[in-house]
Amino acid sequence: MSKVRIYSLAKDLGVDNNKMLEILDGLGVSYKSVSSTIEEDTVDLIREILAAEAAEAAPASAQAPAAPMAPAQAETQAAPTPVSTATATAEREPAAAPEVPHRAPVVTIMGHVDHGKTSLLDYIRKTKVAAKEAGGITQHVGAFEAQTSKGRIVFIDTPGHEAFTTIRARGANVADIAIIVIAADDSLMPQTREAIAHAQAAKVPMIVAINKVDLPQADADRVKTDLTQLNLVPEEYGGDLVVVPVSAKTGEGVEDLLEYISLTAELEDLRADPKGPFSGVIIESRVDRQAGVLATVMVQEGTLHVGDFLVVGENYGKIKAMTDSGGGRIKEAGPSTPVQILGFSEAPSSGEQVASAKNEHAAREVIAQRASNRRDVENARIQRKKTLEEMMGP
Ligand code: GTP
Ligand code: MG
Repeated sequence: MSKVRIYSLAKDLGVDNNKMLEILDGLGVSYKSVSSTIEEDTVDLIREILAAEAAEAAPASAQAPAAPMAPAQAETQAAPTPVSTATATAEREPAAAPEVPHRAPVVTIMGHVDHGKTSLLDYIRKTKVAAKEAGGITQHVGAFEAQTSKGRIVFIDTPGHEAFTTIRARGANVADIAIIVIAADDSLMPQTREAIAHAQAAKVPMIVAINKVDLPQADADRVKTDLTQLNLVPEEYGGDLVVVPVSAKTGEGVEDLLEYISLTAELEDLRADPKGPFSGVIIESRVDRQAGVLATVMVQEGTLHVGDFLVVGENYGKIKAMTDSGGGRIKEAGPSTPVQILGFSEAPSSGEQVASAKNEHAAREVIAQRASNRRDVENARIQRKKTLEEMMGP
């Protein structure tokens, strides 16, 4: 072993990736991302630093009276393998105020038509959505939760990225990470470039999945070269773009993709308080002839419950029923959960912010205030126009 990836070393040594990057910064070692490799000499140095830190912490904690410590960050992340039990205890810092818990990453899948976005999601979710779609084209945005080997991940499957752009145009950013799917037999196409531009504009970290590598005519190298021409340089060419070859058909590389998603999410340090005030964003909505208005909401903060009053723009509704992305009825939904809600009387638009209200009266008050603000703005505009016209004369 001459070189090792930063994240695998972090895993082996039982420290988190951010800590590892901190040490590398301290050593003045340059890297592009946690998947960059480092030399064996550097690995030895890191081991020494960690051992020294542990030794320094150990006597102090031995002398200290049994001070009550809050349970040390009981995160549900994969339990690191500590070097020894003694070091693990010594490394714990006295816990401060309880931290806001981590939340699952929201990942948007974008790319050119037919490059395999839905199929890739199907493989991850082990479902068969793409085969059932009319004409094989995704007609509406779907938001799904998937339980993966790397924990819960929420995916948004966007047709032609419309939803992504309208949501962003309204100032809401629902995605934490963008996966750009590029078919290995087709390389970069117009919608691929658009997708890349959207991800860059939204400033979300981007991972490229080169799909369909099972095809005999697949040419992953060409895709990488084409990306380089857009100034997106894959890691193996010395850049910092994470590129993962995958096949939605055979499943090759999908585990690696999930690993990169979870690493990126870890670095982004995504958190939300399920006990805090609720806020969410409308992903899409439609009117079902029988059921009425069905709105898909992404819960961003807090928790939604059946019976809650919600306010969107100048509308409000009471949650009559809520289903998860698998279609199952649920009573509550915490951060990073896409839910379909029944209870609005009018269909809200994609990207609109959703808030909750204590009761119907409070919801009406919020709406009345919003309507009055809007009228003030409209009146002011009319007044300005009139004044201008008067100034210009007949
Ligand atoms: P739109 O939603 O229309 O933009 O398409 P999409 O990107 O979701 O593509 P979709 O998943 O519908 O796949 C398009 C076609 O490519 C289908 O016929 C899939 O069976 C096929 N396909 C997708 N992934 C792979 C793959 O990894 N290998 C092979 N051989 N075929 C694939
Ligand atoms: Mg699709």
